[in-house]
Amino acid sequence: MGAKRGPGAMLPYFASGRVVTGFGRGGKQLGCPTANLEDATVSDLPVDFDCGVYYGFASVDGGPLNGMVMSIGWNPQFKNTRKSMEVHILRSFDDDFYGSFLKIVITGFVRPMTSFSSLDELVKAIDEDIRIAREKLTTDDLNKYAAHEFFNTPIPSGSQPPQHHDVNGKL
Ligand SMILES: Cc1cc2nc3c(=O)[nH]c(=O)nc-3n(C[C@H](O)[C@H](O)[C@H](O)COP(=O)(O)O)c2cc1C
Repeated sequence: MGAKRGPGAMLPYFASGRVVTGFGRGGKQLGCPTANLEDATVSDLPVDFDCGVYYGFASVDGGPLNGMVMSIGWNPQFKNTRKSMEVHILRSFDDDFYGSFLKIVITGFVRPMTSFSSLDELVKAIDEDIRIAREKLTTDDLNKYAAHEFFNTPIPSGSQPPQHHDVNGKL
């Protein structure tokens, strides 16, 4: 039978992959830039890993850990046909980091993914997600994960070209 174990059951969850272009809505429509992880990383997720909004830490190209908040799923607001993992790093970056290598650890669950009645509602929900993530992420956890082997093994050399999605989510 197997009781449902809930969205927190598989945490912490470590993942890594290249940043690919998303559907181009993040920055423009929502004021929330996201780094979309490549498909190989998405398909590595265990089948029973719940979709939803999560928080944790991320490192770009072997750099220092930053807090992050992310979505996993089909973005019901936009009825995406492709499952995605989209990471919003809680620090502003001067440039896009398409093609960069991202390592993340997911440490907590915020809420399921939802379709809101307006884009404005989604923007408000994301603001609240960011507030919650900032509140839950602790310096102790940051230091703990910064020392973790996962974040201290070299990132793969020889970059693969990033994959590009077209607006319909096809590669
Ligand atoms: C913290 C966070 C929460 C999100 N919550 C939802 C959600 O509840 N429903 C939804 O459809 N998409 C959600 N998204 C995904 C956004 O819709 C998505 O990042 C945005 O459309 C940009 O996608 P793009 O980078 O592929 O253009 C969330 C994203 C983030 C970072």
